[in-house]
Amino acid sequence: MISESRAGSDMQAFIHALPKVELHLHIEGALEPELMFRLARRNGLDLPYESIEQARAAYDFQDLQSFLDLYYQGARVLVQEQDFHDLAWAYLERCAAQNVIHTEIFFDPQAHTGRGVDLDVVLSGITRALAEGERRLGISSALILCFLRHLPPQEAMETFEQALDFRKYFIGVGLDSAEQGNPPAGFRDVFARARSEGMRLVAHAGEEGPAAYIWSALRDLRVERIDHGVRCTEDPELVAHLRDARIPLTVCPLSNVRLKVFDAMSGHNLPRLMEAGLVVTINSDDPAYFGGYIEENYHAVQQAFDLGRDELAQLARNAAEAAFVSSNRRRYLLERINEVVDSR
Ligand code: HPA
Ligand code: ZN
Repeated sequence: MISESRAGSDMQAFIHALPKVELHLHIEGALEPELMFRLARRNGLDLPYESIEQARAAYDFQDLQSFLDLYYQGARVLVQEQDFHDLAWAYLERCAAQNVIHTEIFFDPQAHTGRGVDLDVVLSGITRALAEGERRLGISSALILCFLRHLPPQEAMETFEQALDFRKYFIGVGLDSAEQGNPPAGFRDVFARARSEGMRLVAHAGEEGPAAYIWSALRDLRVERIDHGVRCTEDPELVAHLRDARIPLTVCPLSNVRLKVFDAMSGHNLPRLMEAGLVVTINSDDPAYFGGYIEENYHAVQQAFDLGRDELAQLARNAAEAAFVSSNRRRYLLERINEVVDSR
């Protein structure tokens, strides 16, 4: 008989070995306190923390807004092209260590241009790291430009028009920041404009906001995936639609618990989402702030819900299905997943 801890460590090893695809990761949220301090020193900037430990201790959030306040403050240490490169490279090294084989990365241009940092600097630094990641680590990647929904839609439109000078560097647009009171519909025009330029479309919805915001993201913005989306279970018709249309949800379990969307992991509705037949994926959101990268997220839900190999493999396959990649690359991602699943 296998002891429980043995079974647990076997599952951990399986999760580690499973080739993973990440679809919901804010690059500014991958800024670990160690790098934040190094960049602050390099750029001659003060931080509101005395030490790395004090920074980590401050990451005790009540809700999305209390997190966003520290997230935007942390991003202020990102000034030079090299800073953005080093941030993205550090994340890719984590990806390599956790067997992430494809990642789609959000960035928030307005968090930087609003402080006088050019879009060119942001994108050059990140894309230089991503090219190295493809070459040296074999990790494929893409960038998704997110609009900050707490700022006026007109500013999102201006940001998009400026970003078109760099359009080869990103594949789509998204919508993030404070959800409550900032419904998707306000951003209809800029999403329509992005769509006319051939952009892939996603939006955060149903994280703190109601199920109606998920409907609005689908109908008003015409998004192809919903980021978070966990509050869809408040509307059975919506759940049926997400299932029938195979609209993927990029769920971020540790984030949801740290931002108190759920009181504890045991109360997360991931099992309900999976049982409903939704295309659910597991992601890390802002790993430096929420206590874990993708592997820790898989591990947390495996433990909380005693998920088996088939369920974990399904979550990884769902992400390969939901990725914005060519059919060749998708076949390769699925083959890599199946190879490991079949060998264990
Ligand atoms: N929600 C909304 N905006 C964000 C998040 C999030 O989880 N992370 C970074 N910006
Ligand atoms: Zn997010």
